[in-house]
Amino acid sequence: VSSYPSHISLLPAIQQCNLTNLPENYFLKYYLYHALTWPQLSFVAVVRGPGGKPPAYPKVVGYVLAKMEEDPPDGVQHGHITSLSVMRTHRRLGIAEKLMRMSQRAMAEVFNGNYVSLHVRMSNSAALHLYRDTLGFQVDKIESKYYADGEDAYAMMMDLRSMQ
Ligand code: ACO
Repeated sequence: VSSYPSHISLLPAIQQCNLTNLPENYFLKYYLYHALTWPQLSFVAVVRGPGGKPPAYPKVVGYVLAKMEEDPPDGVQHGHITSLSVMRTHRRLGIAEKLMRMSQRAMAEVFNGNYVSLHVRMSNSAALHLYRDTLGFQVDKIESKYYADGEDAYAMMMDLRSMQ
């Protein structure tokens, strides 16, 4: 599996991966808006072709969709992880960690992001482990009934200033 900046032609496959793995889904135009506005911040993981070469028809097995906050309420330039998922067949291989680190580096280096934020369901223990234990995010606050089904979210953040 290799990760590289997401290409417009892969957006339908990224959308399909999101539909398979998460209940929070988006119109294709929202993926397109991310890819056109902050092309440096979103990445896909695709299965390599024969001989380790880029495949003719890439199979997307994971993605991170990320953006810069356009009108930050705190006035501080920062990035935001809109969505992250990896197909079940390819989990626990370090793909999500790699995608996250690539996006975080670009937020700091390209856009001078001071920190990165995200929301995660309080019941999502796999993602919480990834964010808190592997990557070093901290819980900023709890957002009550953040999700459409009424579940609360942890609003998490991680400082990126040492990467700028
Ligand atoms: N249980 C406990 N910890 C886990 C688990 C798990 N099932 N999966 C990952 N982790 C943690 C571990 O700390 C792991 O490190 P380790 O393997 O050294 O122990 C670390 O995450 C890194 O794991 P990766 O292999 O990089 O994670 P993976 O590629 O499997 O993807 C993900 C993790 C994205 C959470 C995946 O399980 C998934 O797609 N889940 C469904 C969708 C989802 O919940 N997405 C996040 C929603 S929040 C948002 O989008 C902002």
